[in-house]
Amino acid sequence: MCGIIGYIGSKEATPILLEGLKKLEYRGYDSSGVGVCSAKDGKIIVRKAQGKIRHLEDLIKSHPITHATTGISHTRWATHGAPSHRNSHPHCDVKQTIAVVHNGIIENYQELRQELQKKGVKFVSETDTEVVGHLVAEYFKGDLVKAVQKAIGRVRGAFAFGVICSADPNLLVAARVGSPLIIGIGKGENFIASDVPAILDKTKRVIYLKDGEMAALTRDDVKIWKFDGKPVTPKIDTVTFTVGSAQKEGYPHFMLKEIHEQPHVLAQMIKSRIKNDHVVLDGIGLSDNQLKSIKNIYIVACGTAYHAGMVGKYLIEKIAGIPVVVDAASEFRYREPILQKNTLILSVSQSGETADTLAAVRDARARGAKAITICNAVGSSLVRESDGVLYTHAGPEIGVASTKAYTAQIGMLYLFALKLGELHKKLSDQERHKIIKEFKHIPSLYKTILQQKEHVAQIAKKKFRFGCFLFLGRNVNYPSALEGALKLKEISYIPAEGYAAGEMKHGPIALIDEYRAVVCIAPQSEVYEKMISNIQEIRARKGKITAIATEGDKDISKHADYVIYIPKIDPLLTPLLVAIPLQLIAYYIAVNLGCDVDQPRNLAKSVTVE
Ligand code: G6P
Repeated sequence: MCGIIGYIGSKEATPILLEGLKKLEYRGYDSSGVGVCSAKDGKIIVRKAQGKIRHLEDLIKSHPITHATTGISHTRWATHGAPSHRNSHPHCDVKQTIAVVHNGIIENYQELRQELQKKGVKFVSETDTEVVGHLVAEYFKGDLVKAVQKAIGRVRGAFAFGVICSADPNLLVAARVGSPLIIGIGKGENFIASDVPAILDKTKRVIYLKDGEMAALTRDDVKIWKFDGKPVTPKIDTVTFTVGSAQKEGYPHFMLKEIHEQPHVLAQMIKSRIKNDHVVLDGIGLSDNQLKSIKNIYIVACGTAYHAGMVGKYLIEKIAGIPVVVDAASEFRYREPILQKNTLILSVSQSGETADTLAAVRDARARGAKAITICNAVGSSLVRESDGVLYTHAGPEIGVASTKAYTAQIGMLYLFALKLGELHKKLSDQERHKIIKEFKHIPSLYKTILQQKEHVAQIAKKKFRFGCFLFLGRNVNYPSALEGALKLKEISYIPAEGYAAGEMKHGPIALIDEYRAVVCIAPQSEVYEKMISNIQEIRARKGKITAIATEGDKDISKHADYVIYIPKIDPLLTPLLVAIPLQLIAYYIAVNLGCDVDQPRNLAKSVTVE
């Protein structure tokens, strides 16, 4: 979704802002803009462009900005008003003395807009953001911090703001509720950004601004207050990502790079979370006694994380014997789920900022439930709003289609299930030992699967013209089928459906003919033969089958057009392995179609609005 970067220092702001915006491109956007305070004539200069950031760069090349060392900039993902020049940020007041960039949604913007219009304010955009520029201008009496504070008092909804004003070019003001915002601390320069990668090559020292806080940045100082004016002592964290982790490092796309990072991510998880054959879940926030008393679990998540959560249900129920309900967070929050005394809410999220997941957790905690989050983003809102966190530490994921974050989430759910299994005495020492031993093989098995990527690329060459795909799986690989279909539609725009193979006869079989591509996930397991029956039924109707099967399964090649093999492993662990061929199928098909793999149309990496 929308991205923000702001700069205050002694260098020219515009090139720094453009560089930062490019690093936020992965979040998804449709237009961009910069606004700077010009030291030359004490004015705010704004440049905006619809489409890619290179259009904004071209505009700035033809209409250069100089002598401006304070500025804000934005990538916009349209919510209120179409993607267009006039709707892109920054938004200013009538006299162009104040400029604002905003992430989030202002819910009462209509009423504020009408109030301002009655006072004669002429609006130029359809956005919810524009009211803020006008409000700040109305309240500005020489003190930008106070004016922003007053304006914030009038708006409802979610926001992260960056605000500058021509009367005080040595000041940048920021504020947040709901939408994430960080402050980067440099030497003689400071930054604001919606996400760490935007400033990673400038500084690793960051302050995670909390909900209800605002900040005033000058070149050499950062002051933070709560909205009521109470000062806050800033806590500076050091980011551990490397700049390389936010660059492609020779891969043509971030997605392919991130697919290849999965062995490393799982190896790190094993190293830090398994000690002497026991699972160590530091940060979990609940005592062993509290974990022992859990009677049921709701997993809440969105998108790919929701599919990881579905895998988690199979794992926790099987390994720990605790009933689990998995809900799309957007459903959970409106359906009044029945929470009991010992209900645990387990949220799963890469970004930790997904609006629905956050709301679901808030709601459940307000009703007395304990909440643990499985999260990748350190210090994110979900982490702060949960009782405990299990960090996946997958590193920054830049490709919009989630890959390494997904397998890391499943890995962590697996470890969580083992821990509960141990505490709930559902798992003998011997069983635990066996499972952990298998789990430890995952990173090397990943490497074996990745060696087959050329084979998958060849299959994709034969398949990319199919107009519709069906992905089938059973049991623990039913969620894998959903995720395989999601990956393909996200990045190739080919309609794809994921289905529980047992349900095929109840509808999807009507789709099968020689023009249908079907991916059947059929590793060795107790449902293998059932999958083979499904494959036969598809074949009888001339569907074109690609099977994902276990090494050594020669028979399956008699029924399928193509087979991708994964190494033999405990069936419960197969979702971790089949994820890679599914990701590669989607990736190579999208590449063949010439799609923008890392930034698919209409999608956002982190959905911070409802
Ligand atoms: C968006 C992203 C998906 C992601 C989902 C949930 O839709 O494009 O890749 O799975 O949000 O995001 P989260 O950060 O909560 O895992």
